[in-house]
Amino acid sequence: MVSPYDRVCTLLEGKNRKKGKLPDKWELIGDVLILDTDDKEIAEAYAQVLGARSVIKQIFINGELREVRSVLVWGDSNTETLYKENRLLYKLDPSRIMLSSGNKDERIRISRVSDSQEVCLDMFAGIGYFSLPLALRSKRVFAIEKNPFVFRYLLENIKLNGLDNLIPILGDCRDVSLPCRVDRVMMGYLHSYQFLDTALSSIKDEGVIHYHSLCRTGDTETPVKELEEKASQHGFSFKPLLKREVKSYGPKMSHIVVDGLFRKRICRLYL
Ligand SMILES: C[S@@+](CC[C@H](N)C(=O)[O-])C[C@H]1O[C@@H](n2cnc3c(N)ncnc32)[C@H](O)[C@@H]1O
Repeated sequence: MVSPYDRVCTLLEGKNRKKGKLPDKWELIGDVLILDTDDKEIAEAYAQVLGARSVIKQIFINGELREVRSVLVWGDSNTETLYKENRLLYKLDPSRIMLSSGNKDERIRISRVSDSQEVCLDMFAGIGYFSLPLALRSKRVFAIEKNPFVFRYLLENIKLNGLDNLIPILGDCRDVSLPCRVDRVMMGYLHSYQFLDTALSSIKDEGVIHYHSLCRTGDTETPVKELEEKASQHGFSFKPLLKREVKSYGPKMSHIVVDGLFRKRICRLYL
């Protein structure tokens, strides 16, 4: 079978574009293509082959709120799109908001981890990347997002998927007080160590935390140690249930997730 890349090469052959000079990686989100090129003709060829309506080049993803800046290289300047994955629809504007295709397997895994008795918390909800899959099986999911622009899409995505057990909250997860403690916490943010105190204050006497972090490839011990240390400070025992690499993150670095089970230690008083 001819690959999309080879089809693009064939399309551009007559135009003196050499194979090897064309981008061999891209992300297609709905009908918006993220491609590392400034060349309109190249962008158009990829759009034709991959069925994209717009082609954008991401300039940077920045800061605490992971804000995206992009330029339109080719096509429709309305870059809002619909992306379908695992029976769920996500509306977003990839020129302003990130959606990592490398996290797809993790999003699918998370759609299966909870049950109808569980109340969950997503501390970094974004447009609902993990909140929507979690809500498929859970009793209730609280989804906190700090960025008002992203929060608008979270609201729309809840409606689009008819998930009335998903409760969106605009704010900083450290400042939000929930009406109850939860069984499960999602920490889908790569710098989540500083938020562990909040996560541990939110869980019931027994709960699971999905802890994401950026580590040297192969080093799952660092996040495990971080969880152990925080568990002990908060009077919990800790057991790692799963450690996995979500995706590679540049040379020698990996996006790791550790699922941890936390149980409140019973303190007996002998009088
Ligand atoms: C990296 S994105 C989530 C990426 C996503 N998990 C994926 O699969 O692509 C993290 C989100 O957390 C939000 N955020 C960052 N700090 C926050 C805070 N203190 N409280 C609530 N939301 C926060 C950001 O605005 C952003 O939308």
